Amino acid sequence: MSHRQTKELDVLKHAAEAAERFREAVATQPPAASYAACRQAWDSPTPETGTPAAQTIDALRALAEPGLQPTTGPRFFGWVVGASHPVGVAADWLTSAWGQNCANHQGSPSAAAAEDVAARWLLDILRLPASASVGFVTGATMANFTCLAAARTHVLQKAGWDVEAQGLCGAPEIHVLIGDEAHTTVFAALRLLGFGRDRIKRVPSGRDGAMLAEPLRAALAACEGPAIVIAQAGQINTGAFDPVQEMLADIRARGAWLHVDGAFGLWARACPETAALAAGLEAADSWATDGHKWLQTPYDSGYAIVAHPDAHRRALTAAASYLPHAAGDERDPSQYVPELSRRARGFATWAMLRHLGRAGIADMVARHCRLARRMAARLEEEAGITVLNRVSLNQVIVSFGAGRDDATADRLTRHAVARVQSAGDCYVGGACWKGREVMRLSVISWPTGEDDIDRAAESIVEAWRYVARLDP
Ligand SMILES: Cc1ncc(COP(=O)(O)O)c(C=O)c1O
Repeated sequence: MSHRQTKELDVLKHAAEAAERFREAVATQPPAASYAACRQAWDSPTPETGTPAAQTIDALRALAEPGLQPTTGPRFFGWVVGASHPVGVAADWLTSAWGQNCANHQGSPSAAAAEDVAARWLLDILRLPASASVGFVTGATMANFTCLAAARTHVLQKAGWDVEAQGLCGAPEIHVLIGDEAHTTVFAALRLLGFGRDRIKRVPSGRDGAMLAEPLRAALAACEGPAIVIAQAGQINTGAFDPVQEMLADIRARGAWLHVDGAFGLWARACPETAALAAGLEAADSWATDGHKWLQTPYDSGYAIVAHPDAHRRALTAAASYLPHAAGDERDPSQYVPELSRRARGFATWAMLRHLGRAGIADMVARHCRLARRMAARLEEEAGITVLNRVSLNQVIVSFGAGRDDATADRLTRHAVARVQSAGDCYVGGACWKGREVMRLSVISWPTGEDDIDRAAESIVEAWRYVARLDP
């Protein structure tokens, strides 16, 4: 190796040491600087000359670290995001260092093989049909997009229309039915696929945000022709599951495609204590889920799983004579995802599945759900705090100012969220749920323990008492 290469490689060790120091301190880091402060700090003219390797990384750290959220720490409850487990990060570093193009078997035989095996393990752990195909995508947004592209291909093919050749102009209308509390990114995916917002049938949901089976039955009966039903496993605020078992007979009788957005909730199937929540989902036609949520892989990592591999391949394949094809029925990584060149995501997924194993994943999901219930119980002990959902999974939503009028309670809740965020002991989010302001907590970071829950609950109660004193 040339002296020049050796010198450049030193920067990898330098970055690894910095990463270790960052992780060691993340649990107690101060709240992230504002975007405005970060933007100002980052502002500088286009570099005209280069900077030595280690100095470049030092400059990057100095600028980035003040504005990083503690998403990898044990008391980050702000969104449904995993905590990038060190094993996944290490595998991801190697993925970058190896620099593989995993579009096909020749581009990287190892990456293609790792994906194939990781896909098989995923299907086994999530208890989905072993014959399903899996695309390794950036996250649940693209997983939903990819699955729904396969659905579009399949239902139109059944109606005698080749959407790959003819597009959507003049195609039979596809009826899309979805719960009115589905995740916003599913609507975005539908839009990209040519299903306009106003043509999607939103089915009413109950108090917990789960789609109601009876209105779905009526909506299915009212439409003719190709249809796609989109169910949800794990509502973003409440963690609720659409009652798929109750809906299935109507969906099947209608010949509709059933897609499940299970960005985090699908992992309930990997844990005996929560599996009943997601019972019956194996009968669906496609499923979207994330690795960078409950599996704790680093970003970006999502899985588009389809029970009809032919439709999956047909919708996504991009072929050219210069691109080698997989032999026989071998799996070609690029045939199941929108992109050709991308990072070899199978390595980090393989590493996390290997590190945690079936038992480790089950334990982690069970622990997070137990911790969410512990958080809810702690908060409910305090007068003026109301837990609004039945905590069956890992989500807790809370309002403040019980007994006050709606506008006052909403204001108090907003202030309580802001106070907790600025105190910096833990991070919580805010949202509007069924027209009211709420604080939302997602327990989904691998390092979170009971002490973190108790400390965070204490910080939230303190924030509430402070806010209540100022606004009696
Ligand atoms: C139910 C649901 N669907 C889809 C998404 C989008 O996932 P991603 O951000 O990985 O694209 C999320 C994100 O939280 C989610 O909770």
